[in-house]
Amino acid sequence: MHACLLIPEIVKLIFTNIYVYGTDGSLVNFGDHSFQRVARRSLAALSRACRSFKDIALDALWVKLDNLEPLFACLPRDLWTMTGDRKLLIKRPVTTADWSVFEQYASRVRILGNVDSDLFGGIDSEFVYAMMGFCSQSLLLPNLRTLYCKGYPHVLHPCMRYLLGPNLVYLLLVPPTEGFWSNIMPSVLSGLSRHSPQLEVVEFVGPYAMCPRVSELALCGLKHLRKVTLVLPSRGDLSWLSRLIGLQELRITLAGILPPLRSQFRTSYLDKLVIRSFNWTSSGSSVAGWVVPCRQLQLIPAFSESAVAVECVLRMLDKRLLFDVLEHILLDVVLEPADHIDNAFTLQTFSPLMRFSGLKEVDLSTFCISLLDDDDLGSIVKSWPRLECLHLGTRCFWQTPPKITFRGLVALLSTCPNLRNLGLVFDATKVDSPTAEKPGRGVRNTNITSFHVGFSPIEQPLQVAVALSAVLPCLGEFSVESLLSGGPGRAEREAKWGEVLEHISHTLIKKEESKATGSETRGLRRRST
Ligand SMILES: *[C@@H]1O[C@H](CO)[C@@H](O)[C@H](O)[C@H]1NC(C)=O
Ligand SMILES: *[C@@H]1O[C@H](CO)[C@@H](O)[C@H](O)[C@H]1NC(C)=O
Repeated sequence: MHACLLIPEIVKLIFTNIYVYGTDGSLVNFGDHSFQRVARRSLAALSRACRSFKDIALDALWVKLDNLEPLFACLPRDLWTMTGDRKLLIKRPVTTADWSVFEQYASRVRILGNVDSDLFGGIDSEFVYAMMGFCSQSLLLPNLRTLYCKGYPHVLHPCMRYLLGPNLVYLLLVPPTEGFWSNIMPSVLSGLSRHSPQLEVVEFVGPYAMCPRVSELALCGLKHLRKVTLVLPSRGDLSWLSRLIGLQELRITLAGILPPLRSQFRTSYLDKLVIRSFNWTSSGSSVAGWVVPCRQLQLIPAFSESAVAVECVLRMLDKRLLFDVLEHILLDVVLEPADHIDNAFTLQTFSPLMRFSGLKEVDLSTFCISLLDDDDLGSIVKSWPRLECLHLGTRCFWQTPPKITFRGLVALLSTCPNLRNLGLVFDATKVDSPTAEKPGRGVRNTNITSFHVGFSPIEQPLQVAVALSAVLPCLGEFSVESLLSGGPGRAEREAKWGEVLEHISHTLIKKEESKATGSETRGLRRRST
């Protein structure tokens, strides 16, 4: 055996990579079951090949399970049988010897479940309960660190407690039925901080809302909690969120159409806050009693309202969620706003955001910005000199054509030198011809390689290419509005922007060639003298 293989750390690295990269070195797609089977078989063979490999190979083999079935299928063959519809039935009482087989593998599992499969697979509930009866510390998988729990049969509710161990750091629960949060789970979750005190990330996701009291009991005693995802009824009192000390990220969905209660949620700082709600107005009233300075803010209501309503909510959020620490803001809606002039943003809509000079990322790609002209855009971005990422109006098609022109784009590039990610709808039919005074003399951004132009109208690709490549010389990609929200002429526009790209890459190639031949001739000349 090669000396390398005597070092356990190296063997561990190699074996772990069999799962991640496969035996042929290609990155594994975890959804690829045939692949996983091969990887498992290789690890099982390795565990038998050499005594020093055994534990390391078994650890790698059992580290991640989609469901508990493989563990139960390792038990002696006279204990269980598999029916024609792949159900695992128990045949005789469990013995201590059976349990020690189970324990040997179960203690190696670190990750259980995935978001689309049942935790117990085809194991009959009687079989599960029989094994549970033997758990010494009421734990099936004592070293579990990550649990994704989507579905399991109703009758197995009480088993959840047997999966919440002291080493768990990540827990994701998707309620399989509406009664999930209200029946057995409250008693299990109220002891969460005792069962799993190391939890750092908890995701209680939809579609059903949880009782705020249950989530409070579940989360408030967790001292290491960093990230939380919750779906709560809009009428709930959320003041208890203030008691989550050390929280860095909160994603909250306020479900329901009832006007929200005013909660007093106060914290000194959040790295990221994401709020989903019914509409802009309900988002605003939900947070009317909050004081939550955050670095990244995302507001994503289901239904949009007029630009005036958006502006009004943004004003309300000042000193509630909007503080000087703000760096990233994303406003979006689940159902696109109707193509109506009242929904188009104006300079006024932006004004509540214009005092945040530390903004680095602004994403308003879902809204119509056709009413903004070059001067409006100029004054907006002048207040955001550190901008690195800007997306305005690019997602959908709007009846009103954009007023912003090439001049506005150039002013943007010159005001925000750190820009590297750009999406902007502008009127590309009015690009100055190359013979006229060159716009944006000296403005060049080489960090932008991809440009989302949304439904920007375009007529003459060559002219546009000449003008654009002067200010954005490294462009290698254009995209137009999404196919689902596309408007008339989308295909033609997409083709024209494709032509722009061809012209740009063609000029680039030519420039490279002339550079190359230029230096060659100089070299020749030098030699001849
Ligand atoms: C927004 O939601 C509230 C309920 O929270 C409702 O009263 C109001 O009518 C909604 N506004 C619009 C414009 O749909
Ligand atoms: C590109 O980005 C780097 C750092 O991200 C920055 O130093 C540089 O000035 C940028 N260049 C341009 C032309 O924007």
